[in-house]
Amino acid sequence: MKVHIHQEAETDYPAVFDLVEKAFRSLEISDHSEHHLVERLRKSNAFVPELSLVACTDDGKIAGHILLTKIKIEDEGKSHESLILAPVSVLPEFQNRGIGGQLIRAAHKKALELGFGSVVLVGHENYYPRFGYELCSKYAIRMPFEVPEQNCMVKELFPGALNKVAGTVQFDPAFGL
Ligand SMILES: CC(C)(COP(=O)(O)OP(=O)(O)OC[C@H]1O[C@@H](n2cnc3c(N)ncnc32)[C@H](O)[C@@H]1OP(=O)(O)O)[C@@H](O)C(=O)NCCC(=O)NCCS
Repeated sequence: MKVHIHQEAETDYPAVFDLVEKAFRSLEISDHSEHHLVERLRKSNAFVPELSLVACTDDGKIAGHILLTKIKIEDEGKSHESLILAPVSVLPEFQNRGIGGQLIRAAHKKALELGFGSVVLVGHENYYPRFGYELCSKYAIRMPFEVPEQNCMVKELFPGALNKVAGTVQFDPAFGL
């Protein structure tokens, strides 16, 4: 389904809050607080307004949202700036029509334009590899919490972006970890 993707405006915040809550409502692995996480991240230092995107239908309804925020990958005094994809949400009635994929690709394009080189995420092992995500373990990148290896993924936005990058992901306090 063709959607129009653009930067989220402040006037979109209530619709996005509602959308994220609905997208995760029936998901067993969710703690059902992702809509609050989005609100905290917007107020944090990790927020990059250009990387909070909405997908709109032809009649102007917001059907999906994606948020990429800044993280650091740190190792023995070395610090590398990267992004985390969290969360991506599509309204249940619009799921499985390619909107999530369009949002992910648009976010990658914008992140590259802004000068970022990589995106990490914790997510489903069957979904994200199609967008070029690889296991973090390939790059010796670790999460600061226990998570199955296959769910911890990273994408280079250009070849070689993760050369000599390894270490532990440092999340913004807004994540509440
Ligand atoms: C995950 C999500 C963003 C994908 O967006 P979408 O527009 O439905 O997905 P697309 O149409 O681009 O892709 C469809 C594929 O995604 C898969 N998919 C959908 N939801 C999924 C999920 N929660 N986990 C894994 N894969 C999922 C479908 O099985 C389908 O796979 P196939 O192409 O192999 O058949 C959306 O389904 C959603 O909001 N889900 C609830 C919230 C969530 O799980 N967010 C991701 C964690 S941050």
